[in-house]
Amino acid sequence: MTQNTSINRQIVLAERPKGEPTKDTLKLVEAKVPTAGAGEMVLRTEYLSLDPYMRGRMSDAPSYAAPVEIDGVMVGGTVATVVTSNIEGFDVGDFVLSFSGWQDYAVSDGTGVTNLGKSPAHPSWALGIMGMPGFTAWAGLTKIGTPKAGETIVVAAATGPVGATVGQIGKILGCRVVGVAGGAEKCAYAVDELGFDACIDHKADDFAEQLAKASPDGIDVYFENVGGKVLDAVIPLLNPNARMPVCGLVSQYNATELPSGPDRMNWLMGQILRKKVKVQGFIIFDDFGHLYPEFAKEMGAWVETGKVKYREEMIDGLENAPEAFIGLLNGDNFGKRVIRVSEK
Ligand SMILES: NC(=O)c1ccc[n+]([C@@H]2O[C@H](COP(=O)([O-])OP(=O)(O)OC[C@H]3O[C@@H](n4cnc5c(N)ncnc54)[C@H](OP(=O)(O)O)[C@@H]3O)[C@@H](O)[C@H]2O)c1
Repeated sequence: MTQNTSINRQIVLAERPKGEPTKDTLKLVEAKVPTAGAGEMVLRTEYLSLDPYMRGRMSDAPSYAAPVEIDGVMVGGTVATVVTSNIEGFDVGDFVLSFSGWQDYAVSDGTGVTNLGKSPAHPSWALGIMGMPGFTAWAGLTKIGTPKAGETIVVAAATGPVGATVGQIGKILGCRVVGVAGGAEKCAYAVDELGFDACIDHKADDFAEQLAKASPDGIDVYFENVGGKVLDAVIPLLNPNARMPVCGLVSQYNATELPSGPDRMNWLMGQILRKKVKVQGFIIFDDFGHLYPEFAKEMGAWVETGKVKYREEMIDGLENAPEAFIGLLNGDNFGKRVIRVSEK
């Protein structure tokens, strides 16, 4: 069933996944379309953002945010339109950036909701380059990575919304940028379209050797998106005083246990000590929320002038969101994955 005005389709967490989410992890249920009380508005979801952090919300392991409850609607950033409103400043037909989750309709009191106006040029971009992922790239790279012209930056998930933006900002700042991505097509895009100096396929058998060859002067900034074997290959190449903004570890999100093999924790700490590496984790809105206006101004200009390009992968239908999300964690996406929830 497609979106309509009488039923609120919702995708809820049916069970907590062990390892990779499956078709049983999420289920589609139907509820009544909510109504707005005093000081509230009803929002209809137009676009739903799919993001790797959602895997963390499926788990009840300790994290920086609460898990989704069993049978609770999956959380998620959305671009919605106002259907009815009892809030000043939000009128019927306005597009808003909201956190309505994986459902057709939600009630909001306006907290944390941004009005995008009646006809934003690219409403869904508020979920990508102009929103959380773009902001993450900008803040993580410029405030923690602090790259200087001539330095080498390495970033994986290089064609996703965070990695692609990190690399393009790196080029604007005069750095050598080496991307890491899954497959030849993504790597060609990173170099030919995004202007990276090189991009290495992490699935190649000689990945570590190729990365070393592409980073002849070592690595000054490793923007950590994935962990796993990319991190293993990067560590020996880090230069003294390198910086490592730890943004995400997507290769580990479905892991159920630590990898086998010798414990390398002390080796890693030794590298960090001897090379005086700055390693800093961050959660974008916790740590940098106050800088959003500065980001929006700078990124808005870069996007408008074509200095930063943005690739979006639109998938139709809320019912397709679970499969699309599972694929996102495996690299099936090529660009920012967004679900078009409303009818075209
Ligand atoms: N700290 C924060 O506040 C914050 C905010 C937003 C995002 N993040 C993090 O930023 C990272 C990127 O997010 P995104 O939205 O831009 O994701 P994305 O690139 O759209 O999707 C994740 C990508 O990770 C790559 N990947 C998956 N498994 C991998 C593996 N084993 N080894 C190497 N790469 C692998 C895949 O790309 P390939 O096919 O190219 O390998 C996949 O497309 C994620 O770790 C996310 O959790 C953090």
